[in-house]
Order: sequence, then structure tokens, then C-alpha cells
Amino acid sequence: MSHDSTKKTITVALGVCLVCSVLVSSAAVGLNSIQTANKKLDKIKNILAAGDLKSEGQNPETIYKEKVKPIVIEVKSGDVLPESKYDEFTKPESFDIKSIVQNPDYSTAIAADQDIAGIKKKPNYMVIYEILGKENEVEKFILPIYGKGLWSTLYGFLALDKDLQTVKGITFYEHGETPGLGGEVDNPKWKASWNGKQAIDENGQVVIEILKGIVDPTNPNANRQIDGLSGSTLTTRGVDHLVKYWLSEQGYGPFLAKMKKDGADEKI
Ligand SMILES: Cc1cc2nc3c(=O)[nH]c(=O)nc-3n(C[C@H](O)[C@H](O)[C@H](O)COP(=O)(O)O)c2cc1C
Repeated sequence: MSHDSTKKTITVALGVCLVCSVLVSSAAVGLNSIQTANKKLDKIKNILAAGDLKSEGQNPETIYKEKVKPIVIEVKSGDVLPESKYDEFTKPESFDIKSIVQNPDYSTAIAADQDIAGIKKKPNYMVIYEILGKENEVEKFILPIYGKGLWSTLYGFLALDKDLQTVKGITFYEHGETPGLGGEVDNPKWKASWNGKQAIDENGQVVIEILKGIVDPTNPNANRQIDGLSGSTLTTRGVDHLVKYWLSEQGYGPFLAKMKKDGADEKI
């Protein structure tokens, strides 16, 4: 067979394809566990960041174990699910929003006129995180939030003070918005501007809003307002809507109302 015969060319091409596909699939399978571990660590780091828990050289997983207590809530009722009722979908260690909403037994369709976060379905259960103080008292709640921006669904955490009204931090651990535009949701200065703002009033109404433009500090409502990201009105509107959705009756409202009734905001 001559070196440049058609048969030999095809054989060599097929051989190269076979070797490459084996290499790529072995890498994908081999790296799967590392990717899962990295994703878990990234989530932990984001929970700590939202809770303003600095790792300062310490292992984030150690701080998480010491300072963070995950609890599972039934979203509709706001009831805390007892550990004895955890199952493969609800247990905090493996809880995954994307998986749970795919399961019709564990998710609920959202009526279009109520779906301001643009998520179509919501999980029936959510894992939220209590940040514990020195005496193991709850200092703040880290609430998972997610919803549509311009190009993507943004996934993040909102930290709420034990007063159940004041924002203590916000962070997004996954989104596909444009760097420099909608991607400015990751801008540390913008995220810091949320700290101390009033999200919910005394009556449990959601009052926080992101403006199209800059907050006027002399406005009496300035403590409930956040600067819009310039050139990114659509992402900004998405974040405004998803925050409002998750803090409302549709989201954590029932849980927050129960916490208030139980006096969580007074155990200071
Ligand atoms: C390539 C490209 C990427 C964009 N990415 C975003 C984005 O991630 N988020 C966003 O809100 N707007 C983005 N925009 C701009 C929007 O199309 C729209 O013009 C903008 O949200 C309006 O904001 P403004 O009223 O503050 O100018 C992008 C525009 C272009 C051309």
C-alpha cells in the first residue's frame, strides 16, 4: 500500500480520532470528581463571602463547619424540615437547585404573572444557611437567590441580618452576563453598597430596589436603594426582580415571617 493511498489516509485519520476521543473522555471522567469538589469549595467560599466570614489563611471548609449551619426549609410553608426527613434531594450536603427543579415531585410551576425572576419553576425546598456568632447564636441568614439577567440565570446568595430586614451582603457564584457590563454584579464596590440597606420593612414588605441611575443620598428612601449598573439596565433589572422575588411571599417570606414570630429578630 502506497504511503498516500486513500485507505491509509482514512486509517490514520480514524486512528487519530480514536486516540483523541479516548484522551478527552478519560480526562472528562478522571477530572469529574475534582470538578465536583472544586464546585463544592467554590460554593462554600461564596457562602462565607456573603456572610462576610474572612478565611485569612484558614481552610474555608473548617470555618464553614464552625460558623455555618445549613437548614432545609419548605418554601411554601416556611417550615424547617427536620433532619430525620432529609432525603437524597433535600439533604444539604448534596442539595442542588438545578437538580431539584428538574424533579416534578420537588418543584412547583410559577404562574407567568408571578414569575418576576423568570425561573418558571421553583424548588419546594431550599437550603439556607445560618451564620453563627460566638455563643452559637444566629447572626445572619444566607439565602440562596437566583433568576434571569440578560443572557443567563444568575445564582447567588443574599445575607440578611438577624433583624430580618437589613442586607448584610450579596454575591453571585454563577452567571453568564457580559464582563464589564452585566458582569459588574461581581464588582466588590457595588456588592459592598448593598451592606446595611433595608430590604424588608417592619410589616414584612419588600422595600429594596435597584435604581436606573445613582442613589441620591438626600432621598428619604436612600437606605432602601441601590445604584443601577451603568450600561447594564437589563441585568440590573434582573437582579432587582430576583431579589424581590426571593424575599417575597413566593420565596422566603413565609420562613421570615415565622422567624419573626418566633422572635429570632429579638434574640440579640
Ligand atoms: C455585546 C453586548 C453585550 C451586552 N451585555 C449586557 C449585559 O450583560 N447586561 C446588560 O444589562 N446589558 C448588556 N448590554 C447592553 C444592553 O443591550 C442594553 O443596551 C443595556 O442593558 C441598556 O442599559 P442602559 O439603559 O443602562 O444603557 C450588552 C450590549 C452588547 C452590545
